[in-house]
Amino acid sequence: MANVLTPQLFTILSGLIEERVGIHYGREDSTLLGERIAMRMAEAGFESALDYYYYLRYDDPLRKEMDALTDALVVGETYFFRELEPLEASIRHVIVPAIERRGLARVWCAACASGEEPLSLAMLLEKDRLLDRTRILATDVSPRALSRAREATYGARAMRAFAPDALPPEAHARVSQAMAPWTQPTANGGVRVSKDLVDRITWQRFNLVSSNDDLGTFDLILCRNVLIYFSDATVQRVIERLDGALADDGRLVVGVSESLLRFGTMLTCEERGGAFLYARSAS
Ligand SMILES: C[S@@+](CC[C@H](N)C(=O)[O-])C[C@H]1O[C@@H](n2cnc3c(N)ncnc32)[C@H](O)[C@@H]1O
Repeated sequence: MANVLTPQLFTILSGLIEERVGIHYGREDSTLLGERIAMRMAEAGFESALDYYYYLRYDDPLRKEMDALTDALVVGETYFFRELEPLEASIRHVIVPAIERRGLARVWCAACASGEEPLSLAMLLEKDRLLDRTRILATDVSPRALSRAREATYGARAMRAFAPDALPPEAHARVSQAMAPWTQPTANGGVRVSKDLVDRITWQRFNLVSSNDDLGTFDLILCRNVLIYFSDATVQRVIERLDGALADDGRLVVGVSESLLRFGTMLTCEERGGAFLYARSAS
């Protein structure tokens, strides 16, 4: 199939997507982006990519088509107990001290995809009887990802951490123990998570690039495996926003392949038990 995007159309459409959702496309991604846009154009009944651009930019008052395009573009790759070591270290070194200080810890899972990350955190917390004293807010830009999270029925890919040798035996035993009370196996090798646990988490739509809602402040912000899709300029703006949502002694954790050190002195970084914890420079 021919790419619907000429260089000019690539420039304006990728610019609009970056402005609205943050995802950055380089010229080498033009074919991939063109395929996704062609798919959405066909479903929404557009024949011209320029008309589609004008519609997204100037019509689409409720941003319904932009939401559908966002769903088609985002990478929702995630699974239960992904990057376990930093997750457990965040509990030990951030959540437990916050509970000891104030009796309650507030956590924001800022790109929760279909929910495996906040649900894993909730399971680990409940195993240690800490969930009652932790509030978890889980947000994502993708409406489809959030509705999957609320459905909480997962296929075998969500269970990759349980593959043979994926985790050391002690870690495997810990996550199995944490997960067992909350899940029923499904026929396809996945699990269904109990609604009781899903309802312990607040799920909300939030765009890290353009939402203006004040979510309050948090002891721990998990913003993992999303900044890789943004340009440095966008990452800088998102970090400023996350920095503003950190409690004075709060900590930000990003994905293991994402480092914020190149962004200068706004945040300081300390390594605790396998997690890189970013704190406000002033604290
Ligand atoms: C690869 S998943 C990461 C999921 C999880 N944090 C993890 O580490 O497994 C990236 C998620 O970031 C979300 N995302 C992309 N752009 C976003 C934005 N501007 N605001 C909020 N979430 C965004 C996507 O919808 C997707 O669900």
